[in-house]
Amino acid sequence: MVSAEEFNVAEIRAALIGTRFARGLQHFASVDSTNARLLEAAAAGAPEGTVFVADEQTSGRGRGGHTWHSTPGDGLYVSILTKPALPLRDALLISLATGLAAQRAIRECTGLTADIRWPNDLLLDGKKCVGILVETALERDQNAALRYAVIGVGININHPSFPEEIAPLATSLRLASGKPLQRSSLLIALLRALDHELMLLEDISAPREKDLLTRFAEGSTWARGKRVKVPEQGGYTGVTAGLNEHGFLLVASDDGVLRTVLSGGVREME
Ligand code: BTN
Repeated sequence: MVSAEEFNVAEIRAALIGTRFARGLQHFASVDSTNARLLEAAAAGAPEGTVFVADEQTSGRGRGGHTWHSTPGDGLYVSILTKPALPLRDALLISLATGLAAQRAIRECTGLTADIRWPNDLLLDGKKCVGILVETALERDQNAALRYAVIGVGININHPSFPEEIAPLATSLRLASGKPLQRSSLLIALLRALDHELMLLEDISAPREKDLLTRFAEGSTWARGKRVKVPEQGGYTGVTAGLNEHGFLLVASDDGVLRTVLSGGVREME
C-alpha cells in the first residue's frame, strides 16, 4: 500500500512559474468531476490557465458516456481551462496535443514511452494508463470559433490493481514501472508540457499543424499501418493511413475506400 502524498499547492505553483498555469491551480479533496466543476467555472468567467485537481472523483467522466475510475490518492485527476484561438474544426488538435504532453510527462517521470492510441488514450504494455476528455464551448457571435475548452486528464499513477471489469484493459504507472510515483511530479511535468504544446498550437506563424501531426505520428504506432476495427459507419475494418489536416484518423478500409474516423473507439484487430 502506497500512502498518497498530499498536494502542496504552493510548491506546485512555484514549479509552474513561467507557464500560464502558475496562478490558476486549485486543489479539491473530493469532487464529482473536475471537468464538470471547471466547465461551470468557465461558464462563470474563469480565466485561461485555471486548473482544478482532485484527490478523488465520485463521478469521474470518461469519453463516450463512460465513467473514469477515480479512487482516492491513486491517480491524477485534473482539468485545465484553455481558450485557444482555434476554429471548432481544429478542436481535435487540442486532444492530440494533450496526448503528446502526457506522453512527455510520463517519459520524464518514469523513463517509459507510452503509445498513443488515436486520438488520446495512452497505453503501456497494451493497457490504458491515461484517458483524456476535452469538452468545448462555442462563441455565441462568431461562426464556429471555440470559446473555451476544458481538457480533462486522468492518469493512473499508483493504483496497485483495478476492479475486475477493467483490469484486463487498465494499468498504472506504478504497475508498469514497478515504482510508486509522486502525483505532484506528474502534474508539474504534464502542465509544463501542455503549456508548451498549447503555445505551439496558438502560434499561427509556426507550421503548427504539420509539426503537431508529424510528432503525433512519430509518437503513436496507431497513426499508420495498424490493422483496426472501427465501430462507426456501420462498423468496418482496415489499416490506419495517417491523419488529415484536422487530426482525424484515416483508415484504408478493406472494401478499398479511404475513410475518415470521426469518433474514438478504434480497436486493434486480434
Ligand atoms: C477517457 O474515457 O478515456 C477519458 C477519461 C478522462 C478522465 C479525466 S479525470 C479528470 C477529468 N475529470 C473528469 O470527470 N474526467 C476527466
